[in-house]
Amino acid sequence: GKKFVTLNNGIKMPILGFGSVLETDVSDFDAVYNSAWNKGYRLFDTASNYGNQIALGNWLQTLECNREEYWLTSKVAQDEQGYEQTLAAFQKTLKELQTDYLDLYLIHWPKEKTFFETWKAMEELYDEGLVRAIGVSNFEPNHIDRLLTRARIMPAVDQVETHPYFSNHVTHDYLKKLEIQPQAWSPLGHGGQELNDNKIIELAQKYHKSVGQIILRWLVQKGVTAIPKSTNFVRQEQNISIFDWSLTPIDEQAIDELQKGERVMGAPDENYTEDKW
Ligand code: A2P
Repeated sequence: GKKFVTLNNGIKMPILGFGSVLETDVSDFDAVYNSAWNKGYRLFDTASNYGNQIALGNWLQTLECNREEYWLTSKVAQDEQGYEQTLAAFQKTLKELQTDYLDLYLIHWPKEKTFFETWKAMEELYDEGLVRAIGVSNFEPNHIDRLLTRARIMPAVDQVETHPYFSNHVTHDYLKKLEIQPQAWSPLGHGGQELNDNKIIELAQKYHKSVGQIILRWLVQKGVTAIPKSTNFVRQEQNISIFDWSLTPIDEQAIDELQKGERVMGAPDENYTEDKW
């Protein structure tokens, strides 16, 4: 099956990536990243406030390969937003990751007061060839509408919470119309109740796959890319092995119907408040 998607600026992004932020109880980040690499993950998703950029950067240095062989996504944090701040934050991120360009740089959360200025800095970074694509995260249709009143470059990606109990379909339909590629964060519901859902377990048995695979396959069939996270070597392999089989349209729809608007975190408009960041 197809493992890449073409973004609206013509570049190819892996459909599945690795969520590289790890819980603090993980003692050996390198072992987790090495395993992900060996299972075939080539997109690594991070953010300046995840606290793992230095560890990820150090690990990347141990790879014997060209920079073009993997994809790095990072994000501007809330307290880094603004024109000058974003340019400085970008340089700090490059330094931490020990690289001279990013593949994708995102505005982490929509912070209304500053996202125009932040976006202007991102457009410049893109013009200068320091980042291959720019985008947003946690932007809902109303945030995108506002951004577009002053954007010169269309966002290539919107990374939003998406999993069976929070399918985020209104945002996804909107993104599709604008040719902005949706990317799911917490595609497995952050290890939550979806993994015990009776319907998904039934489908896992029917297809001889794991519940994680069923969920990720459902996303991919809907045209949604994803960055599942797992420190477990077996699950890492399962999660990326979803390209040579498919769910029937009826089974895909059965998962659509599990939607109940249940987020794992607060809504974007609750998350970007100054005091929280
Ligand atoms: P683990 O690291 O032990 O595999 P999300 O990416 O939605 O935030 O979910 C991450 C959580 O889901 C982690 O707790 C991870 O635990 C768990 N997880 C990852 N892949 C699977 C899978 N295929 N089946 C069940 N749980 C999974």
